[in-house]
Amino acid sequence: MVKGILKISQTSKIYILKYPVIAIFLILLLFFSSFLKTESYAVATRHHLATDIGMKVLEEGGNAIDAAVAVAFALAVVNPSAGNLGGGGFMLLHLTETNETFSIDYRERAPKMSFEKMFQDNSGNVIKGLSLNSILASGVPGTVSGMFYASEKFGTIDIKSLIDPSIELARKGFVLSNFQAKNLNKYKEKFSKNKEAKKIFTRPKGFSEGDFLVQSNLAKTLERIAQNGKEEFYSGETAKKISKFFQINGGILSSDDLKQYKLRILEPVCGSYRLYKICSMAPPSSGGIAIVQILNILENIDLSKLDHNSEEYLKILISAMDYVYKDRAKYLGDPDFFKIPQDLLTSKKYAHKIYQQIRKNNLPSKVDINIVEGEETTHFSIIDKWGNAVSNTYTLNTAYGSGIIPSGTGILMNNEMDDFSSKPGYPNTYGLVGSEANKIEPKKTPLSSMTPVIVFRDNKPYLITGSPGGSTIITSVLQEILNILDFRMTLEESSKKSRIHFQHLPDILFHEQLDDSLIKSLQRDRKLINRKLGEIHSILYREDDIEAFSDKRRPDGKASSVYK
Ligand code: GLY
Repeated sequence: MVKGILKISQTSKIYILKYPVIAIFLILLLFFSSFLKTESYAVATRHHLATDIGMKVLEEGGNAIDAAVAVAFALAVVNPSAGNLGGGGFMLLHLTETNETFSIDYRERAPKMSFEKMFQDNSGNVIKGLSLNSILASGVPGTVSGMFYASEKFGTIDIKSLIDPSIELARKGFVLSNFQAKNLNKYKEKFSKNKEAKKIFTRPKGFSEGDFLVQSNLAKTLERIAQNGKEEFYSGETAKKISKFFQINGGILSSDDLKQYKLRILEPVCGSYRLYKICSMAPPSSGGIAIVQILNILENIDLSKLDHNSEEYLKILISAMDYVYKDRAKYLGDPDFFKIPQDLLTSKKYAHKIYQQIRKNNLPSKVDINIVEGEETTHFSIIDKWGNAVSNTYTLNTAYGSGIIPSGTGILMNNEMDDFSSKPGYPNTYGLVGSEANKIEPKKTPLSSMTPVIVFRDNKPYLITGSPGGSTIITSVLQEILNILDFRMTLEESSKKSRIHFQHLPDILFHEQLDDSLIKSLQRDRKLINRKLGEIHSILYREDDIEAFSDKRRPDGKASSVYK
């Protein structure tokens, strides 16, 4: 049933015939209900130009999926550190008409020539940097496949017109912000190792705010994709350019890998938290299971009775995080390769047991390494006037991926192979350790922390949210959910609250600005790192209002909404 139109049942028809006054009343109600139909929609993304493109699609009658596809292609141009064609991600989407929620896994797959010890030397030591900055660092990209699937299956507008604005942005260029100029300069050394990346993303004296970034080869690639469809990327001229480059440069990603890329439609992981239903991504993301598990643990206590970010509140959060990341390391990986005890991990009973342990105050074990900071990964949230919603997180892994562009394509390649466990217990760039579940195998998908979320209230999307930040994604999204659901904050209020992050190993408590005495009481003998956590792009849809907000932790984001 289309939102806002009343259906007349058989019983009502009998009443209408018997009572003309009721009939007139019902006709008037029907008439006015069509005016009451909500026309609200919103987009929140990491870059203002991408948000404007998404809003235009919605204004012109496209649905949330159309807008998501246009935004994803736009971010590949205007947010090159994470927006991508050469990476992958997860799209969670809800359709109002059928009340169904789908998730698309378009994450990278390991090339078929990959093997478990490919990043180790003969003595079994992990070779530093090989899984991050080398020709072996890339998985087979899924973004183009994901966007074409979403558009064909759920969209209403020809994909060509959704890619057109991005072609223009790449061809004519766009103005770099101060943040973007500085960020590109920061990675000059990385870009300098690849001829095309050096040409596009470096300048002898560095970039400055207001400079134009033109990406001619990317424009041509996008044009061919718009013209020839996804086959262009997986078996056409673009595929040939990519596989040839990898072959010449000692890589293993082949034309067969590209041809054989397959996305997966997965059942989202859903749970309940107080009045709400929470849905997110199933493995190969750890996000869905982790967020449901941690909310199940926290449901055992009425958090709203505690002061926000008080010592008691944060201690409970840290302990719950510790348990969840412990399970992540042990049990999570690609479900096609490893049997994941999902029912156990997401059960209320298991969470209750953990909560009892937390109450006994068990302390986590200790290891200590550093985690690199990056501008990695990007999330966007969209809702259309019919109430269809998209929560999408996609990435190249670390900022600008491997920094490698196959000649003539303009496409930055991912370094997602680092999300596998290079060796059991050996930490990846986010300090995450893994086990058998996440070892490297041909065609396998590395475990992710990306956590696109849709929270439902009364069966309707209520909060659409997600974040970048590698391993910190899960805990950032968690605190956004708690701030909104338990502490009834607006998105803007929530974004101003300091967040913490704890992931079992290493034994480091990451925190934003917190009171000195509070920090001391949380620290015990734990190492502390004060660091800005990932920026969130959310939409909150209350009955009488829609709020879209792009977190100010990083500049350049934009959230737009129309409430009618
Ligand atoms: N590459 C970061 C993640 O997927 O979690």
